[in-house]
Amino acid sequence: MKEFSVNNQQPPPTTTDAGAPVASDEHSLTVGPDGPLLLQDHYLIEQMANFNRERIPERQPHAKGGGAFGTFTVTQDVSAYTRAAVFQPGAETEAIVRFSTVAGERGSPDTWRDPRGFAVKLYTSDGNLDIVGNNTPIFFIKDPMKFQHFIRSQKRRADNNLRDHDMQWDFWTLSPESAHQVTWLMGDRGIPRSWRHMNGYGSHTYMWINDKGERFWVKYHFKTDQGIEFFTQHEADQMASADTDYHQRDLFDHIAGGQFPSWTLQVQIMPFEDAKTYRFNPFDLTKVWPHTDYPLHEVGKLVLNRNVTDYHTEMEQVAFEPNNAVPGTGLSPDKMLLARGFSYADAHRARLGVNYKQIPVNAAKVPVRSYTKDGSMRVHNVTDPVYAPNSYGGPAAQPERTDDGGLWYADGEMVRAAYTPHDEDDDWGQAGALVREVLDDDARDRLVDNVVGHLLNGVSEPILRRAFEYWHNVDKDLGDRIEAGVRDKQAELDPKAGQQANPARSSMQSKA
Ligand code: NDP
Ligand code: HEM
Repeated sequence: MKEFSVNNQQPPPTTTDAGAPVASDEHSLTVGPDGPLLLQDHYLIEQMANFNRERIPERQPHAKGGGAFGTFTVTQDVSAYTRAAVFQPGAETEAIVRFSTVAGERGSPDTWRDPRGFAVKLYTSDGNLDIVGNNTPIFFIKDPMKFQHFIRSQKRRADNNLRDHDMQWDFWTLSPESAHQVTWLMGDRGIPRSWRHMNGYGSHTYMWINDKGERFWVKYHFKTDQGIEFFTQHEADQMASADTDYHQRDLFDHIAGGQFPSWTLQVQIMPFEDAKTYRFNPFDLTKVWPHTDYPLHEVGKLVLNRNVTDYHTEMEQVAFEPNNAVPGTGLSPDKMLLARGFSYADAHRARLGVNYKQIPVNAAKVPVRSYTKDGSMRVHNVTDPVYAPNSYGGPAAQPERTDDGGLWYADGEMVRAAYTPHDEDDDWGQAGALVREVLDDDARDRLVDNVVGHLLNGVSEPILRRAFEYWHNVDKDLGDRIEAGVRDKQAELDPKAGQQANPARSSMQSKA
């Protein structure tokens, strides 16, 4: 007899997955109390078989994360720039958001220094719009060919299965375009205090199209209404052992307690023609558009107000993809964004199966009438006709929608090349502006400490020297301070080695 009952009510009967009642939650079927198990104990076997298949592959990057449902409400009129229903005055749209770290596995600490994913799915009246961004407006690289290599350099070595600062700095210093993002990462925003206390950025340039067919380039900025707060490296290290899931817990508890976090969506808008002559290449993901050039326009408010009830079905299986665009929105010639258009849907097919869009959390809230059919785990019935064109009343495409999804002019030889440089494109300028013009003295001091601590963790001598040069290129004074900080500490730890302190690799990810 159970000692606990909810509201003095008997619990409902346990059933098999086929709905038939079962006799015991505790005892398997045996020949006598001490006898062997019987194969016909279908329920026991169902439980064991299901258990063995509970885990699905984790996301390749961004494996550790969590999030919630919410609402996006338009507060300002941006209809001059986009005809997207979701951005029209008064529109209110259901949303799901997932936050994540990039390099860590599903069980890794929330407070490791890393960019944070900020993925938004808006279930609009024109189908799903996904803005799959990070808490940073920029990225480490600008060509998708380097993405896989970049992620491998952040994850684990082949031999000892450890994360390794040597390979991280090796990749970064051989990829100077990473300087802006690495400067950002090593600063205060590299470890947000909570997911509620960070901004989200679409990062890439996207397209908006208005009802006259006019095109604009836009960047999305979700600004936290809770204010930016961060952990110092020391606080984050303490938290990593005290509460591995601190960010997840913080979000869940606040929403459960009725303290709903919110973000104000603002956009930078660039007239279509400006892109050709703007001083920075507007499609280069390692650059921002300075606010003085393109100010922010408010669009609306995103509020998270409902926790998930089943982490697996609603978070582990939620599938974001930047190519989920709706009429009035589109992609841009950013090579990274275009590659992501393929990569995410491919990742979902591999991880969740070809019919992943039928999983309720991924399903559009409007009728879906595509001509895809069959495949593993398809659960929605397909009806005839199953081909187009047809004479039997099947769905017909709308040619007048041709320019939705974003159109631009392109011509040229087929090449493998860097972007055509614009007047002020270089790898160091905007990183230097961040250091000199945005950070105050205290933030600069913390940046120096963070970089010195990171470099002292197993970075070998040749790569260390490249790192000093890298930071000198970002800012001469900052570079001098970082080099002196590392050399002083090395001398302190190993006085005999002096300036050429022990270059042996520890390979350890542990913090200084
Ligand atoms: P602004 O002075 O107009 O903007 C600077 C922005 O820097 C702020 O609005 C804030 O972004 C962000 N910021 C503040 N503190 C930090 C920090 N510790 N780490 C990272 N970002 C911080 O200057 P510009 O627009 O001319 O940009 C100057 C530099 O600021 C850029 O090179 C870039 O590194 C950084 N930046 C610029 C952004 C942009 O979209 N223009 C966005 C974020 C950073 P927010 O208001 O979004 O919190
Ligand atoms: C996750 C690829 C760049 C943000 C992923 C995943 C892949 C991937 C394969 C796992 C998807 C899944 O299994 O669900 C790529 C490629 C990139 C790239 C190929 C560049 C060519 C970026 C950039 C950003 C970003 C620039 C931010 C601006 C995210 C986020 C997630 C993610 C937020 C997690 C989504 C979630 O919460 O489910 N990426 N990525 N990625 N990526 Fe990227």
